[in-house]
Amino acid sequence: MSNGKSDIGLIGLAVMGQNLVLNMADHGYTVSVFNRTTSKMEDFIKHCQENEPSAERVVGHAELKDFVDSIATPRKIVLLVKSTAVLPTDRDAVDKSIEQLLPLLDKGDIIIDGGNSNWNATIRREKELTEQGYEFIGSGVSGGELGARFGPSLMPGGSPKAWKSLKPIWEAIAAKVDPKSGKAYEDYAAGKPITKGETCTTHIGPDGAGHYVKMVHNGIEYIDMQLICEAYNLMKTLLGMSAGEMSKVFGKWNKGVLDSYLIEITTDILQQKDPATKRGFLVDKVLDTAGQKGTGKWTSTSALDLGIPANSIAEAVFARCLSALKDERVAASKKLKGPKVKEIKGKKKLVEAIHDALYSSKICAYAQGFQLMAEAQKEYGWKLNFGEIAKIFRGGCIIRARFLQKITEAYQKNPDLQNLMLDPFFKKELHRCQENWRKVVSLAVLNGVSTPAFSSALAYFDGYRAKVLPANLLQAQRDYFGAHTYERTDTPRGQFFHVDWPKADRPQLKA
Ligand code: 6PG
Repeated sequence: MSNGKSDIGLIGLAVMGQNLVLNMADHGYTVSVFNRTTSKMEDFIKHCQENEPSAERVVGHAELKDFVDSIATPRKIVLLVKSTAVLPTDRDAVDKSIEQLLPLLDKGDIIIDGGNSNWNATIRREKELTEQGYEFIGSGVSGGELGARFGPSLMPGGSPKAWKSLKPIWEAIAAKVDPKSGKAYEDYAAGKPITKGETCTTHIGPDGAGHYVKMVHNGIEYIDMQLICEAYNLMKTLLGMSAGEMSKVFGKWNKGVLDSYLIEITTDILQQKDPATKRGFLVDKVLDTAGQKGTGKWTSTSALDLGIPANSIAEAVFARCLSALKDERVAASKKLKGPKVKEIKGKKKLVEAIHDALYSSKICAYAQGFQLMAEAQKEYGWKLNFGEIAKIFRGGCIIRARFLQKITEAYQKNPDLQNLMLDPFFKKELHRCQENWRKVVSLAVLNGVSTPAFSSALAYFDGYRAKVLPANLLQAQRDYFGAHTYERTDTPRGQFFHVDWPKADRPQLKA
């Protein structure tokens, strides 16, 4: 608090907003809060007073003007309002909040959008606001409820000047990791924030860069989750393992190279008994249809727009779409027959092979995500630091994993690394695991188990390492029916040829 004014303000007291406020208050910052529905703000203040050691640093306001006036200048105001805008021309609740704020602000004040906003909208908002003399930061916030409360991964994009102002608070509240192991410190408790270690935030770049990187984080989150689900499904279908048995396997995997938040929660989920019936595991009672809010789809459409083969990320989105067609699938299951699952001997070996398939596919998935960011920076004129991005993914966020330490090292050693699979460490790992990976994908195919993530990652690996692809024939087909021309293997690149294929001289095929 300075001169009786709050250090920062926050609008939008849904779960993420409330937890971020408490995190900032835990770190000694006084936070003014405002919510469109005043009763929500009042309930939150009451909750703080009854339960939170830092309650005195949370100040509620029912009027927007009072809220704004209570914040020290240049003001920093975080918006946690649901965004729906996708195209640069779309206007949504974030724009509405900004419109309401602007007449009350002073030039130089900073608005920080901490929602999962689309980067296109963030680019537009940053431009509009800076033209009027305000500052705007679009910041990815990852880690869900617990992350927001005790240490999220924060991905801010905006001007260096705006970042300088926000930096002390963002650095204080972000997750912290042990610099040597890359492991996040998680011994947190309300009122006792973690202050040691490397902080999981960095200035990502200008305008929409932070929200773009957060979106790719989510795309990777989609594929990471789908890969785990496919490993689970293979153990269940091919080996008949129970959820409890699989929980032990995931628990073991979580002590090795796959050590990650998502494997950890999977271990936990699989051992949960059904509290409603008190019989069996809860996961077996959860309906197999997955929802989605759109960030995986945005990642995939951006990959398509930029021409980057992020096929596994897209497959993870489609896998959710397919899962949502529950009624159709149930009907089709009675009509479309596949092979009978054959009894498989050598359970231990197959479980090991599934581990390796998951690990190799995960390397490919991250390779796709980082390749996409590398292309996006060219398109949008950003200069992304991939070593720093991998570093801040190590703690706080949903994809946090031990293996991000290795990605950090890979980009620190070679900031211009063309593809993660080419880094010596990951190359070795892919070579070590590929036999098992191929075995698992083959077994899945032979037994009729759908594994879009494992299979597409393998296709990406094989396609990327292929000196020659059948695109020669494809280009010939394009030239045949559309005169789209082709380049030749025996002339320099950039020279284009066309042949009138139906009429061209060619030897007759023998009958
Ligand atoms: C995070 C998450 C979060 C996201 C949820 C739900 O980093 O904390 O990515 O931002 O909203 O994971 O996403 P879906 O509803 O699309 O699965």
